[in-house]
Amino acid sequence: MTVHRLAIIGTGKSVGNHLSAIRAMGERVELVAAVDLDETRVRAISEANGIPRWYTDSAAMLAAEQPDLVHIVTPPAPHKALILQAMDAGAWVFCEKPLCASLAEFDEITRAEERTGRRVSTVFQWRFGSAAKHLKRLIQTQALGKPLVGVCNTLWYRTQEYYDAPWRGSWKTEVGGPTVTLGVHLADLFLWLLDDWCEVTAMAGTLDRDIEVEDVSMALVRFASGALGTITNSALSPRQETYMRLDFQQASVEVTALYRYRNEHWQFTLPEGVENPAALAQWQALTEDVPGNHDAQLRDLLDCLERGETPPVSGEEARRILEFAASLYKSAFTGKRVMRGEITPDDPFYDAMNGSLQETPLHHPI
Ligand SMILES: NC(=O)c1ccc[n+]([C@@H]2O[C@H](COP(=O)([O-])OP(=O)(O)OC[C@H]3O[C@@H](n4cnc5c(N)ncnc54)[C@H](O)[C@@H]3O)[C@@H](O)[C@H]2O)c1
Repeated sequence: MTVHRLAIIGTGKSVGNHLSAIRAMGERVELVAAVDLDETRVRAISEANGIPRWYTDSAAMLAAEQPDLVHIVTPPAPHKALILQAMDAGAWVFCEKPLCASLAEFDEITRAEERTGRRVSTVFQWRFGSAAKHLKRLIQTQALGKPLVGVCNTLWYRTQEYYDAPWRGSWKTEVGGPTVTLGVHLADLFLWLLDDWCEVTAMAGTLDRDIEVEDVSMALVRFASGALGTITNSALSPRQETYMRLDFQQASVEVTALYRYRNEHWQFTLPEGVENPAALAQWQALTEDVPGNHDAQLRDLLDCLERGETPPVSGEEARRILEFAASLYKSAFTGKRVMRGEITPDDPFYDAMNGSLQETPLHHPI
């Protein structure tokens, strides 16, 4: 068995998700090094987790360790540069969301993938739980009929102190508000399940936090299948909830959770008074109970690395999600409906999520 050499860049608050996922891979992997600009932090994390070597410079780590896979867990602004650096050093990349700051950066990453033959997968762990995968199969086989109506709500609560962290709340360093940070997990799952989106109409505003980016956004989406959906991303909702609902011709499927789900968080409902043992049996065929977390995504990524296959949430599939976020912002800033594919390199929203390389406060909702 090949043992993959892994390294982590960024050992802040979210590194725990990656450390536990790496531990869950057992002998398939060896975590050889960690990097952080903050020496005290990287040293402490390395000592506490038995990571043999630590660095404060990613280039030095890559040259010395030659890892097969690099986990990038830094704030978003340096993601693109670190991804290119890691791929040029021969590694595949597992990078936290948001993957990068713009479609322009994404296309640069794609060119680097073509040049190096290496691949980048964005962390979108909600797709990888067994219930989500099961539902995707049911949609692909039309077991519940056509999808018609979708609701995707990420109603979370983040205080001003949360946004006082140095990189939070600005277009340049956080890339956006809950649209690309908090709500993006459920939105990714929603857009994956319902497949090709065609158009979006959105509003966003900065209603109650002292930040440049939005603290709430709402979008109406039309899918190629004809289905219609709504997406709400909020950092202002005291009773927090992550809720998705898909209404098919024959049944409703819902998930209500917060940061993780298991099968018990999903609900299946037939229309009142309708007996449909075939549809029910299809849903109840779900027996595995894998939560949608970093472990599940890392396992699939390693399988692809071993087989030399394009991993999930990379390439066109990852671009589709980033393009959705860029289009949502374009619609919110311009007050117009945005069609898929209309953000081309001559569009200001190609280079920056807020359509401007200047800092643009969004204090006055459009
Ligand atoms: N998938 C999830 O569920 C999830 C949850 C929370 C956060 N995140 C994402 O994880 C990432 C990190 O968030 P966080 O809360 O851990 O941030 P954090 O500020 O707590 O930690 C980031 C660390 O990266 C280090 N760093 C910054 N630039 C660096 C560089 N060039 N080289 C090496 N180290 C560098 C910082 O010194 C810091 O220690 C963000 O992209 C965030 O969106 C994902």
